Amino acid sequence: MIQENINLQPHNTFGLESIAKNFASFNSIDELKALLTLNQTAQHELLVLGGGSNILLTKDFDGLVLKNDLMGIEVISEDSNQCLVKASAGEEWHEFVLYAIKNNLGGIENLSLIPGSVGASPMQNIGAYGVEIKDVFHELEALNIETLTIETFNAEQCSFGYRESVFKRTLKGKYVILNMTLNLTKVHELNTSYGAIENQLAEMEISKPTIKNVSDAVISIRQSKLPDPKKIGNSGSFFKNPVIGKKQFAALKEKFPNIAHYPLDEDHIKLAAGWLIDQAGWKGKTIENYGVHKNQALVLVNYGGANGQDIYNLSQAILESIQTIYGVTLEREVNII
Ligand code: EPU
Repeated sequence: MIQENINLQPHNTFGLESIAKNFASFNSIDELKALLTLNQTAQHELLVLGGGSNILLTKDFDGLVLKNDLMGIEVISEDSNQCLVKASAGEEWHEFVLYAIKNNLGGIENLSLIPGSVGASPMQNIGAYGVEIKDVFHELEALNIETLTIETFNAEQCSFGYRESVFKRTLKGKYVILNMTLNLTKVHELNTSYGAIENQLAEMEISKPTIKNVSDAVISIRQSKLPDPKKIGNSGSFFKNPVIGKKQFAALKEKFPNIAHYPLDEDHIKLAAGWLIDQAGWKGKTIENYGVHKNQALVLVNYGGANGQDIYNLSQAILESIQTIYGVTLEREVNII
């Protein structure tokens, strides 16, 4: 059923008000097909929402918002080493991580507590603490909005990159992700090499960690650095970590000897956008009811009642200042609507 003039505030983790002219949720593929068929006549602009954790709503939406409520998690096949698990797109990502840990299935424990839905996770190849979705990805099914047929995409067809996939680029707006199948382990290879995890495990006095221990460590780290969107509206990292050439890096390092960075390949270095923004003096900056988070400069926050356009303008001011100070161009990770 299509509803009119619905406030999207409960449907985005920034907690921003925006009125959708038309809104419908679906919990079956048939329901989704029926809605899309109706819209083939109406021709409204479409916005498919999962957990709403990666969008900044800067104005009212004049089209049709479809909220993905497809639910269910099932084991597809398994042997003594691994297990293929299929999760529907409307499931909350962290609930899926908890399901995996409860069933002793490894591979996504480092991705604990990331806000958002299962369906949104491959779209931007979510990642944290040295692991990305692409590392455990098997395949996904998506509905082609034009032909209304279900198509299967393997990892290669998704062309995953850093917070990127084909669904954010050439296929943007053309598919609705229905479910995703991950290849999880029964014999685990833990990835604790990311500094903060090792320190946290040591603090927890754990020397032989289980996947549950790693998940608990990640949860503690995230809770100490990142604001809980249920309490303070936010969308995680607002910008991506920029990648620059070696030559440019050498010049920057001369000027800023402590610059936080990670070597990427022979010719490229990834900079920590959080460090750049922090050093530029933005961390903790508050303008009325919005600003830059006090513990992580990469996160913009809505303290309540903020306006999406104001947050966008703040992001633009940050972008320009980083360009001026370091000559580095930041790119937004969040989708601007
Ligand atoms: N830093 C600062 N000041 C800050 C924030 C960071 O100096 O305000 C420095 C840190 O000290 C560190 C470096 O910057 O040296 C990197 O910081 P951190 O380890 O917190 O990670 P990040 O690069 O800021 C990325 C992801 C996060 C992910 C963490 C952990 C991006 C855009 N962000 O942040 O992902 O949780 O690594 O793996 O890649 C997200 O995408 O929404 C997200 C939260």
